[in-house]
Amino acid sequence: MMKLHTLHLFEIIETLTKVLNCKKPKEIIEFVVVNPDITTSTYNGTHIKIADEDVIYRGYKSWIDLAHALGCRMLTPKPVDENFILMRYEKLTQDSFHASNADKEDKYGTESIFSQIYKNEEAGFLHYFTQALQNVKLSSHRRILNLGINSGDEFEIIKEMAKNFSELELVGIDYCASAIEAAKEKFEKDDNIELLCADINHLKELNLGEFDLIISIGTLQSSNLEYNKLLMSIVQNQLSKRGAMILAWPNCRWIDGEMIYGAKMKNYNFSEMSNLYKDVNFAKKYLQQKKFRVTITGKDYIFVTATSILKD
Ligand SMILES: C[S@@+](CC[C@H](N)C(=O)[O-])C[C@H]1O[C@@H](n2cnc3c(N)ncnc32)[C@H](O)[C@@H]1O
Repeated sequence: MMKLHTLHLFEIIETLTKVLNCKKPKEIIEFVVVNPDITTSTYNGTHIKIADEDVIYRGYKSWIDLAHALGCRMLTPKPVDENFILMRYEKLTQDSFHASNADKEDKYGTESIFSQIYKNEEAGFLHYFTQALQNVKLSSHRRILNLGINSGDEFEIIKEMAKNFSELELVGIDYCASAIEAAKEKFEKDDNIELLCADINHLKELNLGEFDLIISIGTLQSSNLEYNKLLMSIVQNQLSKRGAMILAWPNCRWIDGEMIYGAKMKNYNFSEMSNLYKDVNFAKKYLQQKKFRVTITGKDYIFVTATSILKD
């Protein structure tokens, strides 16, 4: 049994990296560490004495972060005794929708790996999305547009949160036909939701008029869209002067059932965030110029939330 309870994190990373290099995906590694519940209000790295042995304390947050950083999923630890647990990591496969160069149906349709992702059950997404909806005062916006809605996860939360939901008029757009069909099924009883299978590149031609709230999550960075031009056009043509906007970019990758922190860029085998920061910064500057108050929030998804200063 590998005992790592006296090692510093630096040494643990070196040890586990070597072990994992010899493992295949789905194999499990186990090692003994201090039971994080043995004490409270204690920062990681604190030395404590257990039966005269000097051991190093570390909480579950650090073990989950480490599992992801090493390309693993943390499994439920097993108790050794009241002071120690057997930490268990499973090596992840490289099964990810990011790897696919497929067409839009294969990439985002109801049979795709992407369709198995449900962001509304990810705390690192949902907490910040609901916070953004509160910040824009959701119930005060009558017409809501969602660009790249896929099967409608974002509208599910709006339906839960908006006290005046039936008075709102919601329009969702996606060019993936099977995803839009799934969204239509989900909201078949909601007459106030319109779901259109259409290309965002031809938004103006849809003549949808102005919206009070425009949402787009994980979509505007798509390679088929000209981000800067599109954002400016949406703000100028689709967003009401006193409206609000919630944009979000993934700062994560979806791999083998896990949401792993950190945006990925082509040609890098580690997380690299230059494009993310560039796009977020462009949105912030542009919306500020157009008289919006802008905040940047989030974690695994980065949210740009804009509210009109004209409203005050
Ligand atoms: C990464 S997914 C995000 C979906 C959803 N907002 C979410 O976060 O789960 C991007 C979505 O944008 C759609 N999309 C990409 N480019 C588009 C375009 N030019 N017109 C319409 N939809 C597009 C894709 O079909 C896909 O459903």
